Amino acid sequence: MLRYLTAGESHGKALVVIVEGLPAGLTVLESDIGVELARRRLGYGRGPRMRFEADEITLVGGIRHGKTLGSPVAIEIANTEWPKWVDEMSPHPGHTEKPLTQPRPGHADLTGMQKYGFVDARDVLERASARETAARVAAGALAKVLLRHSAGCEVLSHVIQMGSARAKAAGPRPEVGDLARVDASEVRCFDGEAEMAMIEEIKAAAKDGDSLGGIVEVLAYGVPVGLGSHVHWDRKIDALLAQALMSIQAVKGVEIGDGFEVAGLRGSAAHDPITWDQGAGEYRRESTLAGGTEGGMTTGELLVARVAMKPLATLNRPSLATVDMVTKEATVSFKERTDVTAVPAMGVVAETMVALVLANEVTRKFGGDSLDELRRNYTAYAASLRA
Ligand SMILES: Cc1cc2nc3c(=O)[nH]c(=O)nc-3n(C[C@H](O)[C@H](O)[C@H](O)COP(=O)(O)O)c2cc1C
Repeated sequence: MLRYLTAGESHGKALVVIVEGLPAGLTVLESDIGVELARRRLGYGRGPRMRFEADEITLVGGIRHGKTLGSPVAIEIANTEWPKWVDEMSPHPGHTEKPLTQPRPGHADLTGMQKYGFVDARDVLERASARETAARVAAGALAKVLLRHSAGCEVLSHVIQMGSARAKAAGPRPEVGDLARVDASEVRCFDGEAEMAMIEEIKAAAKDGDSLGGIVEVLAYGVPVGLGSHVHWDRKIDALLAQALMSIQAVKGVEIGDGFEVAGLRGSAAHDPITWDQGAGEYRRESTLAGGTEGGMTTGELLVARVAMKPLATLNRPSLATVDMVTKEATVSFKERTDVTAVPAMGVVAETMVALVLANEVTRKFGGDSLDELRRNYTAYAASLRA
């Protein structure tokens, strides 16, 4: 089993993540993590924070001479902006001179203050903030390396909707070799025409001090047959993916395959026909309506999950009505540095969550204390399916 735990506040000294359950002998370079953290900063419409801050990685434990030891891997991501926040975020006794008392609708501020008994919304927003996803992305980088070197599986994503601008429904999907092209797009969109419309839409929202949401599609190529299980509700892979994706800040909908579309079709048109590929010696599904899962298990076909993100709730021109919690007077929510949209970055976080779920299931199914042992188990299983 692969387990991970993140800690740290948005403007704190550092984020940390500990990943337990990786086999020994997996080659992990600091750059594997750095590349993924840099991808999380991508996207037209990001706020100034993405330019100010850098992710400074320290590999604290679990890796020696570029290879995992089988012990927990600990990673620290320092916040280069920390010197500006030392007093405000100090862990030592004291208090803030500037409590935030005008909670933002659409954020954790008000309910978090009520639930935990805080009088300063910063005590909530520092952890609710999506800065925490940097720690997840670092863990996800390890999961991606494990998937690549065990089963040859790769996870990527592309933006298919930004505000009301949509990529063509029948357009080609990016394949593994297309990832650099997707990342080179300012909105991480594979459809050139839609990319232009998306950028225009972001520019218009930015001019109005407003924000945008959208949809990304996550694709996993080379997924082994049979991750997850039909036998119990909390082992079903589609359920595990939905939970992991819904845990991303501002994500409000998840679709596996064409889940919402097939609801309106007849049964005769709503399922992926099974065929036998004589050359490869394996069963195939002719389409991806079910998104590469059946009965709570991966089928070995392309895994497809779509993830819908709401428009961000902090606005550069604050206009959302709220109440000052001290005076109880009506006002508008306070301003905090914000993106116009973070849909392209959310795609990278969504890849992370899918990779972590799949990597966990790979370690559960194929086991092994070393990568060699895990690979032997995987190879024998894959061969048994072709027999
Ligand atoms: C990559 C990423 C970046 C985000 N950036 C912002 C932002 O700049 N401003 C904002 O208001 N919300 C941002 N969010 C969303 C908030 O963190 C989220 O809406 C808030 O924590 C409340 O959680 P909920 O929307 O899941 O209920 C971002 C989310 C992600 C995934």
